[in-house]
Amino acid sequence: MLARFLAFVEAVLQRLAYLSCYLWFFACVAATWVVSPLLGIFAVGLAVWSLSRGGSYGGWTHGSARWAGFSDLRAEGCLFSRHGLPLGRTQGLAPGGWLASLRPLLTYSLLRSSEAMAAASRREADGRALRVNLPDRIPHAAIFGSTGSMKTTAYAVPVLQSCAESMVVLDPKGELARLTARLRMRRYGHDVQIIDPFGVANVRGIPTARLNPISLVREEPSRLVDEARRLATAIVVRTGEEKDPFWAQISNTLVTATVAFLASEATPEEATLSRARDILCSPKLTEQMLAHMRESDACSGLLQRLAGQVAQLEGQTKASAYSVANSHIDFLDSLPVAETLSESTFDPKQLVNAKQTIYLCLPVDRVAELNGLQRVLLSTLINAVFAAGEDRRRKVRFLLDEAATLGPLDALYNAVFYGRSFGLRLLFLFQSSSQVSRSFPDSQKDDFFATVGSVFCGVNDHRTAKEVSDWIGQTTVVGTTRQDSFSQGKTAGTGLQDQTHSTNWGDNRSTSYSEVGRALIQPEEVLQLPKNAAIVLLPNVRPILAEKTPYFARRGRRLIRRTGWAVVNAVVALATAAAVGGAVWAATIGQDHPMVVELSGKLSDLLSRR
Ligand SMILES: Nc1ncnc2c1ncn2[C@@H]1O[C@H](COP(=O)(O)OP(=O)(O)OP(=O)(O)O)[C@@H](O)[C@H]1O
Ligand SMILES: [Mg+2]
Repeated sequence: MLARFLAFVEAVLQRLAYLSCYLWFFACVAATWVVSPLLGIFAVGLAVWSLSRGGSYGGWTHGSARWAGFSDLRAEGCLFSRHGLPLGRTQGLAPGGWLASLRPLLTYSLLRSSEAMAAASRREADGRALRVNLPDRIPHAAIFGSTGSMKTTAYAVPVLQSCAESMVVLDPKGELARLTARLRMRRYGHDVQIIDPFGVANVRGIPTARLNPISLVREEPSRLVDEARRLATAIVVRTGEEKDPFWAQISNTLVTATVAFLASEATPEEATLSRARDILCSPKLTEQMLAHMRESDACSGLLQRLAGQVAQLEGQTKASAYSVANSHIDFLDSLPVAETLSESTFDPKQLVNAKQTIYLCLPVDRVAELNGLQRVLLSTLINAVFAAGEDRRRKVRFLLDEAATLGPLDALYNAVFYGRSFGLRLLFLFQSSSQVSRSFPDSQKDDFFATVGSVFCGVNDHRTAKEVSDWIGQTTVVGTTRQDSFSQGKTAGTGLQDQTHSTNWGDNRSTSYSEVGRALIQPEEVLQLPKNAAIVLLPNVRPILAEKTPYFARRGRRLIRRTGWAVVNAVVALATAAAVGGAVWAATIGQDHPMVVELSGKLSDLLSRR
């Protein structure tokens, strides 16, 4: 609180000092005019010359792509928003003129002094880079960068450090949990839960959490079978390219029936996915389950119906169906996984009802084995947000590092395309744009890029570089050719009567313009971008050239330096206030004061001598 107040005071003093400098500048110009009219005329002439000089030729016939400027970013709501997702800092913004600099100083409210200063100071060589945020109308973002391109340090960590909303973090290396779990607890008062069955994060003082998805299915007796089917859909992987979709469908039915049976009939301790695996692996237990379901009238008879569907399987088809279903749940044959799904040590509804951060630390080197667990947990958490109903003011962020490991997932598709009004905000971290098709197959890939904001921070493959170059589009480059020619000729005539001499000279100057189309940024240039640069592409916004700032490089200005500048700014502002106050006093109530009379006499003398 105190830090924010001091920062506010600092920004106000800085803004007053800036305005004071402008005032002194104009006062000096006026004084120059009074002292020497010649110097004044020279100054005005210089300004007129510089304004009328040149005149640029703006072509657009081959394309009008250009990088976003300050006003584009401000109009789109990418600047000065405290709550948006940080996408980097502005880089290479065209400097504004002194008028552009003066406007925010005069028009922004006092409370927005730091924004006014940021907007005004972009004309300086060392002007402050501004934070670019994802505008609220774009709910999701994807960061693309090869390994070591600062995806984690410049995006994932700053997001966790600066977004106060509830979050679910897919953190395969455990580094995000180690760096930010305690901070989120302390700074934002979050209930922090770390699901870390293999101890990759191992954050001291925070025990590993567990979540039993069937316990959430049980909570809604009226929707029990629907919730069981949702869970089964998360477990049974469908790529959309299966030769025979029957096997995925029947696996889904078998898992749905087993989960619904356990949720409805078993005790809370028995109702686990491990128990479902036991049942589906054992023909004897399956028969007992089906017999029980056929007698049950739970869920308005839906259990009986499910049992009837399963009982229709016979012979080889039955054996194959159980075998395929079991292949989808074999990830449960691991003690850490079974333990993680054995009970719920926290309530995921807190994501919506309170402030909670959940880290899912499932090691990347076990992606193949843990894919099922990852899908189950993520689907359960996404569905928990959907279950809370629509609320446009709510925000629950999902940060998915190494998102390519997810594969196609219905809940993820729903979250991206329909989750906005439920408060779902997703941030994907991919190594390259081609990885998107692992989770969003080709038919959905274009929709994905049209919905999310994309940040390319360290592209190493030519295909992604070409896509980026094509997306940004063509610009028109204007070539200028100037021709100067000078001719001189002399003629002389000598006659009897008279002699003639004439000299001619001419100066010919012509400028011609030619327009050429070229990509605003060529694929080779995308590949050779500086290490700290990123390209941000947002739907319907001009491309943004941004600067990546890793969390460890962000150091505030030194305290002594800041205090020194605050004192200087205060002195300048006070001196200006005193001078302006004195001038107003002299012009109004102090007119008869001897000092004012003497000074005005001297000034009249000076003007009359001119
Ligand atoms: N605290 C730190 N101080 C200095 N350098 C660091 C620090 N943390 C990470 N780095 C360096 O920053 C670079 C970027 O690392 P980062 O983990 O952000 O990359 P990444 O894009 O997430 O890669 P990957 O896809 O492998 O996860 C690496 O070269 C790393 O060594
Ligand atoms: Mg990383």
